[in-house]
Amino acid sequence: MEGNVTETSWDYRFAQYLGRMWARLGYARHIEPKWIHHHELTIPLTQWPKALSGLRILHLSDLHAGKHLLPGYLERVLDDAKKIPVDLVVITGDFIHKGYRYVEWIAEKLRGLSAPLGVFGVLGNHDFSVRNALGIRRYPKLAGTLTQTLEQAGIQILRNRTQTLQFRNESFQLVGLDDLWSGECSPEQALQGVNGVSDTPRIILAHNPLSWQKLGSIRCDLMLAGHTHGGQIRWFSGRRPFLRGQAKSYAAGLIAHPAFPIYVNTGIGHSFRFRFNVRPELPILNLVSELSPAVSELPAVSELPAVSELPAISDSTTHVPETSRISESLPQTCEASRISESLPQTGEESRISEATPHGSEVSSISETSKISEASQ
Ligand SMILES: [Fe+2]
Repeated sequence: MEGNVTETSWDYRFAQYLGRMWARLGYARHIEPKWIHHHELTIPLTQWPKALSGLRILHLSDLHAGKHLLPGYLERVLDDAKKIPVDLVVITGDFIHKGYRYVEWIAEKLRGLSAPLGVFGVLGNHDFSVRNALGIRRYPKLAGTLTQTLEQAGIQILRNRTQTLQFRNESFQLVGLDDLWSGECSPEQALQGVNGVSDTPRIILAHNPLSWQKLGSIRCDLMLAGHTHGGQIRWFSGRRPFLRGQAKSYAAGLIAHPAFPIYVNTGIGHSFRFRFNVRPELPILNLVSELSPAVSELPAVSELPAVSELPAISDSTTHVPETSRISESLPQTCEASRISESLPQTGEESRISEATPHGSEVSSISETSKISEASQ
């Protein structure tokens, strides 16, 4: 039977719908999971010393080495990472997806990753073979085996441990915490025996961004985390259907947490091969100081206008310069993967209705996008 198909007919609309869905499914299954987003993000930190300003960190997370990744994808990303000049490299967990099979493999692929201050990592829930907050381990010795193998390949694993680093003759601490779900996350143990606890600038590495709840009043200038994968799917409405509870507030990007910013990496790998509107990422984080100018940088008294040159109080409208508040000086941003930069506009930019009292995703500060597609 021949139908009368016009642009307004139901047949035509249904065919259009199927076509769009098919294209989206194909894209989410075969393109986005390997479409790595290289970008550089400047993060202003309120207590960060000026001497440490400009420290550049390459942040990798959630590699999930396993047979479910697209062939050759992880090797290419890691080969690219080895060519990026930075001061420090950090990896925030989930090196492997499941079991022992890819432990040696991922260690070999990471061998050669280097930076002047070193390459440091923490373990994620998959590295402990833990799949939920109950902390039940399928392979009790996996974390130990993985740590040993990675360290032999030059990756220093900070298991509740602090490493003091020097950059331009100024010290800062890099603290690594065990995964929250493993039940072994202990900031107290990590900071045992560390001098100058309250005054030393500090970056904390933790797989799960919710590890901030363990910190209490411990100083932290910046926390780097992963774990969420950004939910892997983000609808055009901004909803991330695979994230639940508090994880929604710490989904991806720079979170303006009340005490300190947290950068949540969307990861390189994935749990299941499907990403939509949440590209994998390999960011360079450029930490800059927002400290008020040193006394020596203030204008000399002789350069200030004489009192007689100042307008009379009655002549002038009182003008109080707006002081910088923490909410303004904290990086107000940043969904790291701006799919809209490279994908058809979705009208997604203005979402962010997920903001909660504990965190918010807001518009970007300074993000230099160098989207480069991992070739396949
Ligand atoms: Fe993960």
